[in-house]
Amino acid sequence: MRTDAAPAIRLEDYRPADYLIDTVELDVRLDPARTRVIAELGVRPHPAGRVGAPLALDGDELTLVSIALDGLALSPNAYEASAQGLTLISPPERPFRLTIETQLDPTSNTKLMGLYRSSGVYCTQCEAEGFRRITYFLDRPDVMSVYTTRIEADAGDAPVLLGNGNPGARGVLPNGRHFAVWSDPHPKPAYLFALVGGRLGRVGGEFTTRSGRRVELGVYVEPGKEDRAGYAMDALIRSMRWDEETFGCEYDLDVFNIVAVSDFNMGAMENKGLNIFNDKYVLASSETATDADYAAIEAIIAHEYFHNWTGNRITCRDWFQLCLKEGLTVFRDQEFSADQRSRPVKRIADVRTLRAQQFAEDSGPLAHPVRPSTYREINNFYTATVYEKGAELIRMLKTLVGPEAFKAGMDLYLNRCDGTAATVEDFLACFAEASGMDLSHFSLWYRQSGTPSVAVRSHYDAQARTLRLDFAQSTPPTPGQPEKSPVVIPIRLGLVGRGGAALALTPADHEPLAEGLFVLDRTADSITFRDVPVVPVPSLLRGFSAPVRLEQELSSEDLLTLFRHDEDPFNRWQAAQSYAMRLMVRAVEAVRSQTTPELDPAFAQALGELLAHTEDHAFAAQVMALPSEADVARELGRDIDPDAILAARKTLRAHVGSAISEQLARTYEALASREAYAPTAQAAGRRALRNAGLDLLAAGDPERGVPLAEAQFATADNMTDQIAALGVLAQHPGPAREAAFQAFGERFSSDPLVLDKWFGLQAAIAETGTLDRVRGLMRHPGFSLSNPNRTRALIGAFAMANLSQFHRADGAGYAFLADIVLQLDGANPQLAARLLGAFRTWRSLEPVRRGGAETELRRIASREGLSTDVSDIVTRSLA
Ligand code: TRP
Ligand code: ZN
Repeated sequence: MRTDAAPAIRLEDYRPADYLIDTVELDVRLDPARTRVIAELGVRPHPAGRVGAPLALDGDELTLVSIALDGLALSPNAYEASAQGLTLISPPERPFRLTIETQLDPTSNTKLMGLYRSSGVYCTQCEAEGFRRITYFLDRPDVMSVYTTRIEADAGDAPVLLGNGNPGARGVLPNGRHFAVWSDPHPKPAYLFALVGGRLGRVGGEFTTRSGRRVELGVYVEPGKEDRAGYAMDALIRSMRWDEETFGCEYDLDVFNIVAVSDFNMGAMENKGLNIFNDKYVLASSETATDADYAAIEAIIAHEYFHNWTGNRITCRDWFQLCLKEGLTVFRDQEFSADQRSRPVKRIADVRTLRAQQFAEDSGPLAHPVRPSTYREINNFYTATVYEKGAELIRMLKTLVGPEAFKAGMDLYLNRCDGTAATVEDFLACFAEASGMDLSHFSLWYRQSGTPSVAVRSHYDAQARTLRLDFAQSTPPTPGQPEKSPVVIPIRLGLVGRGGAALALTPADHEPLAEGLFVLDRTADSITFRDVPVVPVPSLLRGFSAPVRLEQELSSEDLLTLFRHDEDPFNRWQAAQSYAMRLMVRAVEAVRSQTTPELDPAFAQALGELLAHTEDHAFAAQVMALPSEADVARELGRDIDPDAILAARKTLRAHVGSAISEQLARTYEALASREAYAPTAQAAGRRALRNAGLDLLAAGDPERGVPLAEAQFATADNMTDQIAALGVLAQHPGPAREAAFQAFGERFSSDPLVLDKWFGLQAAIAETGTLDRVRGLMRHPGFSLSNPNRTRALIGAFAMANLSQFHRADGAGYAFLADIVLQLDGANPQLAARLLGAFRTWRSLEPVRRGGAETELRRIASREGLSTDVSDIVTRSLA
């Protein structure tokens, strides 16, 4: 095992910087391989810092050209400089100006952090620690400065020059060069700095804020793709309006620009006034983007825009507080999408993601609290736990204090903490004050990792007409946290009569439940309801009111009662999922004991009924999407055999599909569209249900379903229907499938984002030939390991969306991924570390696969010179 691991950074060691940098004047002379950056920093000793301390500026792979203090070149013995940092040994004990010149090579910056080029466009990514790859700096979020940026470039190479804030002077220079000056009046941490220079097409728009500020909006894309930028602009305008109406947040500059680039490590970045996006989350047309793409674009445009208040105006004191901006901003974008589309369907989709990503993370070796207390590589903490569980904590807070106090708490936070670098404590204090509640116990959610389980037993006394619910919570141990304490769990509940009527909630031993909310804050607690005329079905954790696992003993009949009658749509969906999960688990047991699973006609029949009567297509589509293989693996929890899960799921889907094939075929006919494509929630819901039905029909009755899929593939006038058809064909081996893949690959050979879908579908085929197919696709001219979208589409889909093939019993899937991780680590460690995350559930596998995964993890760990990113993940995975 390596011993030269990066040191652990600890929350408890936080102290303010010894110096502050009030102003930054940057002069950036862009050049493909020799960019010059002159930074003039206005520095002063921090009033709370150590007097006379050295000034230790961060750097990363930097080349220092010159350094001057108050205009005079510094003598070489006054400082120490390396690629990793620059230290002034005894700086003046008064304000001073430091002028630092560095030289960069953006063309060979393959890490996509700092200043780099993407398809010839100069762009930057500074979160979390990328600014130190541009100039030496106090690269920490509690050092906030006012920036002025002068950008100079070849006018032909980079006619468009963009920076943070408002535009200032521009002009033409000799030798075909030009410049533009941007100034951002709002003090900000270095991670929010950005600049862009390149040949870009522009789609313009405008927005007038509530208080009358006219804001000029721009979406910049690759020239020729302007016709795919309209939806992003529309989503931006809707986001700006919504944030004013819902949170009272107004925009605060005269321009707001979004730039789409094709090489980007994450989804997008909220740089002040200049958001930079992965082009996948900007570009959309009906021929190239699916309904899911449109929804993701809307959500991410909103997310980055909402950061302007929750992230930028109020930023994080240190990176341990990452959830302060990310959890809150995810909550805000989820609420936005819920208001724009269907609230219950959005909630179901978000809970699916939470369980698939965060629950998986929380039950394995990479589990960590929403606010971690230690890290070695901050890039590895942009996780489902920080983002999605972080958003769940905000949602629970709102549930616990109520909507009015939540609003008051947000107003207080936005006012009191504006312009500061804040902590989770600062945030919670606002809600404690606004609600008068003590939130100290609630705050444990931020420090304790692991997914709590809530076990519920119900006792009905027919004589006394009472129902007692006994609750017990427990959280399994996680790395570094062997002992757990009970947390505050808001449980929304109701009682459903056998005929479906909602029963009154009249507690006998407890104050009345406001809005049906029971708060479990001890290891065990119970509540008794009186005047319960019949034995009811408890509907618990409505709307998924807390991120916990619920263990409730319900009969199949109880589940059907909830599925048919619960007034809470989330729990209607949950009842169907629970029922399907129960059947899947039984089918896995049957496969493993080589017996035939008994099939249960009641479940299929209930789905058929839903199809016949539903008016909410998107909701019904969510019901029809039965638990995935990964869902079943999580439910089983240990000794996982992916082949058995695959076989069981196939059997069950075939059974359900054939039992209701008539209804499925009728639905398919009935939902055919007679209108031109529009990415509205309504139309998307129809397509989702129609395509989910087709998928199930092809599973249950291939003779009927597969030809329908072939016809749909050939005639679809939009990408949603076309890719759905190809997805169905992908599961049915044969010449028709190969011909369809061939045709699609040729048709979209010059459209990388569409080709990504094609890579992903092939990588997800659950057949032994897939690994070879993936190897072959890596040689496709449209593929490149240096582009994160391509790599995630092909390699990421194989490792994360193909349970049975990544986890092949012979270990070939693991060896393949390990080779790629090692190959990528030198060029793009952040991407390599993300891919390595596919091993996060390895300990829950059956012994042969567990052994195979461990072998590959150890092989990676033994490699010399690993990046901090990969070494951190592999070390924690093996711990
Ligand atoms: N802050 C970005 C967000 O909105 C996340 C992000 C984008 C990021 N690019 C990054 C984080 C690069 C780390 C590295 O969620
Ligand atoms: Zn974010």
